[in-house]
Amino acid sequence: MINGPLAQALKSRGVSRRDFVKFCGSMASLLALPPRYASAVETALSQTTRPVLVWLEFQDCAGNSESMLRTSSPSVSDFVLELLSWEYHELIMAGAGKQAEEALERVMRDHKGQYLAVVEGACAWDGGLVRSNPNPTGAVGLQEAVPGVKIVNLGGCPHNPANTAAVLVHYLTFHELPALDQYNRPLFAYGNIIHDQCERRAHYDAGRFVEEWGDEGHRKGYCLYKMGCKGPEATYNCPTVRWNDGTSWPVKSGHGCIACASHRFWDTKSPFYSRVPSVPGFGVDVDAGKIGLWLTAGVATGLGLHGIASAARAQIRPRGEEPAGVTEIARGSGVLEREGPPEKKA
Ligand code: SF4
Ligand code: F3S
Repeated sequence: MINGPLAQALKSRGVSRRDFVKFCGSMASLLALPPRYASAVETALSQTTRPVLVWLEFQDCAGNSESMLRTSSPSVSDFVLELLSWEYHELIMAGAGKQAEEALERVMRDHKGQYLAVVEGACAWDGGLVRSNPNPTGAVGLQEAVPGVKIVNLGGCPHNPANTAAVLVHYLTFHELPALDQYNRPLFAYGNIIHDQCERRAHYDAGRFVEEWGDEGHRKGYCLYKMGCKGPEATYNCPTVRWNDGTSWPVKSGHGCIACASHRFWDTKSPFYSRVPSVPGFGVDVDAGKIGLWLTAGVATGLGLHGIASAARAQIRPRGEEPAGVTEIARGSGVLEREGPPEKKA
């Protein structure tokens, strides 16, 4: 049952016990946990003592914050807002300037590094849009700026708040981070190729493609491969989790995937309307595994790992002086450039 401060807080938001149970079930499902774990999640969240959260933004459009906060009610954000103690968030906090800086310093001092830090924008995973060529500000991802920090990278432009919530729920339930791939991205969200989850895949396999925006194939929902869709070389769970409270995702709405969760996609996946290199056997019931292997070979050069987590801005310091004990969850834009199931991190 829900009890304590969380119960009161959710009630004040108009969130019923039924909503809470439903939320726990959806999080367990998203995390690919067996159904019996839904009750474990429920119990853990009911008893959690709200961890402190610091949310930092670096050269960003605040799109990740907007994505988190602009969901309908009762929403993912209702739960996340109440499960955590939001001590510092530049977009929504009342204070500014000196007051805000003092608030951040107070959190860092009082909690002695024991807080969650979320970072969005440049300095997140891979530097995001700001880092794209010619990178006039010299932006880098957080893992480059503060190597060695413990992070989870949540690529996407913006991130999907359901995935971020699931990472937090996993942490609060099991006191550890979910399984990550070689880019420190959670496997439950970045473990599958979009092309393999796409509702237009049958059209691809049958060779039915949109040839021109607005043509008959477009109106009929044919495959967008020829319009530049990067779905065959991108991984993310957006086809199943979707956006706008699960109503749609880019391909469903008629636009090809631009691989917004791939590593440095602004540079590596553009021009966005050019076809990805022809996939062997394309259009004739290609084995998904073969497609994946081929793409892996095609993009192997230039792969790099760019951390997304970040420390509090004031904690960014020279290499070798990173603060210990901070679990950081960062977000950013960027996706994976290799295809095929990501490797689980050793
Ligand atoms: Fe879907 Fe794009 Fe793959 Fe076509 S190419 S099936 S639109 S992901
Ligand atoms: Fe999904 Fe981003 Fe592509 S939301 S469909 S990975 S552009």
